[in-house]
Amino acid sequence: MAKKSKSQERMESMQHHVLICCGPSCTQASSEDVLAAMHECVKTENLDEKVRITVTDCMLRCSQSPTVIVYPDGVWYQKMTPEAAERIVKEHLVLGDFVAEKAQYRFLGGKFEPCKVRKVKDK
Ligand code: FES
Repeated sequence: MAKKSKSQERMESMQHHVLICCGPSCTQASSEDVLAAMHECVKTENLDEKVRITVTDCMLRCSQSPTVIVYPDGVWYQKMTPEAAERIVKEHLVLGDFVAEKAQYRFLGGKFEPCKVRKVKDK
């Protein structure tokens, strides 16, 4: 059996991919503070091996900036703050309950739908 590469091991341990927009509007709305809070909380919760955070350019949701997306759940969060980033880590990434107050869209039934107060676990 072939030995797994570090990259393959990392992919197999990853459970969530978090996209944080640092395009112009989101940066103006302090997305870099959201990014820093997300990194800090992921570290505090010992999720380094399970969560990948990627900075993106504009995701075309500028009026709702800063924008954060969590996959594989497909939840789009709006008007993010550092406090909301901490909640997303503790509630969504750890417990599997998305933060309804900040969720704008979620992927459900093959398409993105406006979020109502439903839990990720209810899929
Ligand atoms: S700059 Fe972030 S959604 Fe446009």
